[in-house]
Amino acid sequence: ARPGKPTFVCAECGNTTSKWSGRCEACGAWNAIQEDVPLSTGPAAKTLGSERGRTVPLSDLSAREAPPPRTACGLSELDRVLGGGLVPASAILVGGDPGIGKSTLLLQAAAAFASRGLKVVYISGEEASAQIRMRAQRLGLGDATVALGAETNLRDILTTLEAERPDFAIIDSVQTMWADHVASAPGSVAQVRAAAHELTSFAKRRNTAIVMVGHVTKDGQIAGPRVVEHMVDTVLYFEGERGHQFRILRAVKNRFGPADEIGVFEMTGAGLAEVTNPSALFLSERGTPSPGSVVFSGIEGTRPVLCEFQALVAPTPHAQPRRQTVGWDGGRLSMILAVLEARCGIPFTGLDVYLNVAGGMKVTEPAADLAVAAALLSAREDAALPPETVVFGEISLSGALRPVSQTENRLKEARKLGFSAAIAPEGGKTVDASGLRLTRMNDLASFVGEVFGA
Ligand code: TYD
Ligand code: MG
Repeated sequence: ARPGKPTFVCAECGNTTSKWSGRCEACGAWNAIQEDVPLSTGPAAKTLGSERGRTVPLSDLSAREAPPPRTACGLSELDRVLGGGLVPASAILVGGDPGIGKSTLLLQAAAAFASRGLKVVYISGEEASAQIRMRAQRLGLGDATVALGAETNLRDILTTLEAERPDFAIIDSVQTMWADHVASAPGSVAQVRAAAHELTSFAKRRNTAIVMVGHVTKDGQIAGPRVVEHMVDTVLYFEGERGHQFRILRAVKNRFGPADEIGVFEMTGAGLAEVTNPSALFLSERGTPSPGSVVFSGIEGTRPVLCEFQALVAPTPHAQPRRQTVGWDGGRLSMILAVLEARCGIPFTGLDVYLNVAGGMKVTEPAADLAVAAALLSAREDAALPPETVVFGEISLSGALRPVSQTENRLKEARKLGFSAAIAPEGGKTVDASGLRLTRMNDLASFVGEVFGA
């Protein structure tokens, strides 16, 4: 931002504008636009002589400054999402809805890393140390060698961290932190950014890995985690559906590992338990094959995960038929409906369409297109797919099926979970079907013809 000219920022999505407005034009949130206060109002940058900020040849960094090894905590679902363990001096943001289990997860992580020899500090701006201790006892972690702090003043926290020099610090939450050199209220974009900035630079300077918790807020007055995503190395979101016991920790950005990796947990009376075989979990409630239900063999990060798409198609009582999705993008659903109509002559006019991914899973892979189409057709025709069959493939606007990545891994997982057949696109590498009856097809129309005889 140019000095002297105020800029505005959306507390929900971090979009900046030069004009205030009641509604964010980027994300649509109401009452979330705040005046943006620059982090530093110091004089313009000037050069500092020859020593500071020298560059070094890339090749020089190789051996001498090779990154120290990561530390795994033993909670393998968490280690996986971190890219194989905690990287020293990294800044990590863990976002999620209030009450989803972020504090629980991080307290368990704190204890696990402490048991692997790291010096761990857990600072809460939301709960008193006694409350955290009670929670730890409930989780069976009463003896963990974790130092607790209840503090919201950023200066005090940095002083504490400076004195303790932990290997790993957890700040719960970044929205409750308060920097006294920033004039706006706690929770504002300026405060949250200042806290994230100071904590991130502490992490780099003192070789401390820092996790910041960020609540996803619906209230525009409190800044959400998205406004600091760009400052940190790794962004994880903890997700789950109300009424479901399981939780998914998803890496949406990771400088030190694959993005889109997921870790699956189950919330129990004694904290979060790891789910090491998510496919079995997501398919656990599946009964006999029924119309509208299709199993998709997906890839989440580095591992295959099977899940079930369920569709319901029924005549609509409304003038405008409903298109509702849970766990799948609504725009992508419209596209598939349009392709079914235009390329296969199967209209959905006058029909309500509901599509759901069972178990609270969210699928973003285009490879699920064919499973979505299959579920829609199966519901519309009231005909179940052949039993024990998994489906995957991307659909293009022309109605062609495009090959997808990791076909072999998808088939292997299906085989492991007891499936005996698969339908996949033609093309790509020849694969070992690992004992499955594999049918490969070129386009959606032949899929419709072969599976539904239409
Ligand atoms: P919490 O970690 O406090 O959520 P967040 O920090 O994301 O706001 O988790 C709160 C919920 O988790 C609360 O509704 C109770 C539930 N819970 C359990 O079911 N079992 C447990 O062992 C614990 C500690 C919490
Ligand atoms: Mg909490």
